[in-house]
Amino acid sequence: MAFITTVLFWICALCFLEIDAQTLPRVALKKGKEPRRPLSFTQTRNPNWVARQIPVTTIYAAPFLKHHLRMPEPLQEAVNELTTSDISNRSSLIHERANGVKTTGTNGLYTFPVAIGNPPQTFNIMFDTGSGDFWVWSWLMPQTLTAGRNVYNGSKSTESARWNGQSFNVQYSRGSAYGLVWQDTVTVNGEYPIAGNPVECAQNLGGDNLVALTGVDGIMGLNTWINDSEYPAPQQTWLSYIIDQYLPLPLFTVALVRGGVGTMDFGKIDTKKYTGNILYTPVVPLADWPGSGYWLVNWSGYSIGRGSFNNSISQVFVDSGCNLVLLPQSMTNKYYAQVKGAWQQSNGFWMFPCSSTMPTFTFGIGNSRLTVGAKNMVFLNVDDGVNCLGAIQQTEEDSYVLIGAPWLEGLFVVHDYGAKRIGFAART
Ligand SMILES: *[C@@H]1O[C@H](CO)[C@@H](O)[C@H](O)[C@H]1NC(C)=O
Ligand SMILES: *[C@@H]1O[C@H](CO)[C@@H](O)[C@H](O)[C@H]1NC(C)=O
Ligand SMILES: *[C@@H]1O[C@H](CO)[C@@H](O)[C@H](O)[C@H]1NC(C)=O
Ligand SMILES: *[C@@H]1O[C@H](CO)[C@@H](O)[C@H](O)[C@H]1NC(C)=O
Ligand SMILES: *[C@@H]1O[C@H](CO)[C@@H](O)[C@H](O)[C@H]1NC(C)=O
Repeated sequence: MAFITTVLFWICALCFLEIDAQTLPRVALKKGKEPRRPLSFTQTRNPNWVARQIPVTTIYAAPFLKHHLRMPEPLQEAVNELTTSDISNRSSLIHERANGVKTTGTNGLYTFPVAIGNPPQTFNIMFDTGSGDFWVWSWLMPQTLTAGRNVYNGSKSTESARWNGQSFNVQYSRGSAYGLVWQDTVTVNGEYPIAGNPVECAQNLGGDNLVALTGVDGIMGLNTWINDSEYPAPQQTWLSYIIDQYLPLPLFTVALVRGGVGTMDFGKIDTKKYTGNILYTPVVPLADWPGSGYWLVNWSGYSIGRGSFNNSISQVFVDSGCNLVLLPQSMTNKYYAQVKGAWQQSNGFWMFPCSSTMPTFTFGIGNSRLTVGAKNMVFLNVDDGVNCLGAIQQTEEDSYVLIGAPWLEGLFVVHDYGAKRIGFAART
């Protein structure tokens, strides 16, 4: 046994030596010479995406894991069962709770094309305002993990350099990724090559959930003011580089589209994409993690349907990489009390007959109000053709509000990096 361990150790030590032999000193970022101008990116339908059935429990648990939030008890129990019990037994109660109603997830269906290296290797990348790392599936991973994806190979680029001693380990709702760091030229949508951009090359993934993002080749985090998970020298990402070097205004805007291609603009506010005023509010630090760099703001209260406005302040995460909207239990209960036939799965997940009339939801930004429409209250239709999965799901009473994709599809959001504030407006 000791012998086998020793042999394995030496085989692996040799692998690392081989990689080390190719390392080069860190390369400097190239300063932009082009005049500053804004960029407008449109998502593309990911050609490698494959529909998969996922347990609702997994979808519901995702934002809690990603943002390190405490789960409500029924969800926590369902998650425990999902990971520890025999859930294949379809007639067991455990199966029902752990799986919930299965649904076809749409995560990763729309991505942005990102090219790395020279000659360019092109990848389908998810943009995520709720995290801060840029990493890709890489040639350092076991082949079992790379099937069906475009895989970055640093050795194929004339502009790449291994960043000696630098590694990363990023944690998400949907698992984790870790590996080594290269530097190479990164070009999003064919615009503004950034030379020397850190490229986190995954060696392996924690958990199965990132594998479930079929056809996705990596994630671009758009968090701010913090550095990523790189060690020992945490870094800023592509976003801060294009802001510093190329953009006329230090901000980006998000306009997601339900079941279609959304847009993100960098360095401009497109007045055709919203109606009324943009309501701005400052980004606030997360109490137990002030350096997190999350896009977190306060709203000044809320009302449901035509109900009266309740002036209770909530702290609100804005996360384009999240499928749901989380509200504290008291708000969720009040909301679904107004939805005919609404019910909860045993994991706590709210559902309702798709034929029910959904109330709107209004939130306050200072003294102004913004209303999210009824059509933004559905997450997905269930395959039974009758029931719908609610966009609004409950979180613990003392927890945060989280605004994810279903509401963002009805809002225009300005992420103002320069002024450290978020602006919300209604979409045209
Ligand atoms: C499946 O679960 C049901 C109800 O809990 C139980 O009666 C049955 O024996 C289980 N079947 C198997 C194969 O474990
Ligand atoms: C990476 O690229 C190099 C150079 O083209 C090639 O020799 C190597 O086989 C590639 N590695 C993988 C895992 O594809
Ligand atoms: C963040 O990264 C920048 C380089 O991109 C570096 O200058 C700064 O020291 C880092 N900050 C921390 C807290 O690691
Ligand atoms: C945000 O809300 C928290 C909690 O109510 C409060 O402590 C903080 O001062 C508020 N910050 C801003 C900028 O309104
Ligand atoms: C206002 O909302 C908070 C949070 O949901 C709740 O605890 C409180 O009871 C509400 N107040 C009224 C008068 O409904």
